[in-house]
Amino acid sequence: MGHAEPQVATTLQSFWMPFSANKEFKAEPRLFSRAKGMYFYTPEGREVIDASSGLFCVAAGHCRDEIAQAVYQQLQTLDFTAPFLRGHSKSFELAERITHYTPAGLNRVFFTNSGSESVDTAMKMALAYHRVQGQPQRQFFVSRERAYHGVNMGGVSLAGMVNNRRSFGPGVAGVYHMRHTALPEHKFCKGQPDTGAELADDLLRLCNLYGGENIAAVFVEPVAGSFGCLPPPKGYLNRLREICTAQGILLVFDEVITGWGRVGAAFAAQAFGVTPDLITMAKALTNGAQPMGAVVARQDIYDAITNAGPAKGVEFFHGYTYSAHPASCAAGLAMMDIIAQERLIERAAAMSPKFIDALHSLQDCAVVADIRSVGLMAAIEVKADGAPGARGHEAQKRLYDAGLNLKSTGDALIVAPPFVMEDKHLDEIVAKLRQVLKGL
Ligand SMILES: Cc1ncc(COP(=O)(O)O)c(C=O)c1O
Repeated sequence: MGHAEPQVATTLQSFWMPFSANKEFKAEPRLFSRAKGMYFYTPEGREVIDASSGLFCVAAGHCRDEIAQAVYQQLQTLDFTAPFLRGHSKSFELAERITHYTPAGLNRVFFTNSGSESVDTAMKMALAYHRVQGQPQRQFFVSRERAYHGVNMGGVSLAGMVNNRRSFGPGVAGVYHMRHTALPEHKFCKGQPDTGAELADDLLRLCNLYGGENIAAVFVEPVAGSFGCLPPPKGYLNRLREICTAQGILLVFDEVITGWGRVGAAFAAQAFGVTPDLITMAKALTNGAQPMGAVVARQDIYDAITNAGPAKGVEFFHGYTYSAHPASCAAGLAMMDIIAQERLIERAAAMSPKFIDALHSLQDCAVVADIRSVGLMAAIEVKADGAPGARGHEAQKRLYDAGLNLKSTGDALIVAPPFVMEDKHLDEIVAKLRQVLKGL
């Protein structure tokens, strides 16, 4: 294919890989050395279609020249400036551009470097907000079983996936969990299930048990993503919104995966017609090309916290050295251009029905236990074989070998392709999935 393949590292031992089977990987590595558009390439030059946008990141396809150029030029012009008490124009510009896409009223943007940092930042915003509102007792949080909110201590405390919590002690005190929304009758459901809205009343039960006046915020992924695509039952998010409003609790949508077009609108908030008070995002914000996350807050939350601070002093004691890093802002701005010029969000929405039908055609494979889908994301749950997760893990390895990259969580194979996918790519993804599922 005319490319010299980049050199492969000669030793794999020093790098402690995150969320990985280190021993197995180092004995049997599965590497990528470059990528373009819908494809990764292995060090041997083999093409592997990217069915999971890396990790839900690369919505505009890999190695976009516009983003690479913008980052390069930024690093030559202003490589770094402290984000505390100093500024550079791209951070203000990017914040403004982001608010063109967020729901009306959510228009104050705090930059982080990841989804995990966004979640912990949002927890602090909620605490700080209630404090300045004269309600410092609001220190409890509510989240949900099967939730993933990143890996910092706040996010781990919110987490509803046992492996992400069990090694790390009690976490932040005062976090309570609602039940997850997966009901047996939701099997093979396309889009939002009709039943289960009443599960939102778990929040009322927690309010009645701990005092709604003590709860700072409720965190939910509008579609539980990392666990394996659990779209919300119809009416569920609306019910959560009603209860939060009635009880004075902030509603946080963790849109690290669902943000930027994944579920049929810019944000899940718009796709499902429910407006939260805070939105967390990351991943596709820069097309994954630079680490960046953000929390977008309702303006009055920002106003309350900033107005309560001293006239010339810091109002919110929180931030990261790399918040609004110039190179990340440059990447984000280039991504905003691509989103607008290529109508990327509309493109994802238009492709969704065909994607969902194609994925659900795999229901006839004997190993498939369930398929769930919404927008351009889906999870194929394979029947457990021995230890839970063993078959899913084996499947993602065989898929790599067959030329398809995706993420597995337990026995769920998560499919979330770049929005630049064309029909031929979708056909290739489904054919490779079928081939491997048949042989599992
Ligand atoms: C909903 C959600 N929140 C937070 C995170 C954590 O993001 P990061 O890995 O960038 O810290 C993720 C990552 O997948 C996520 O899906």
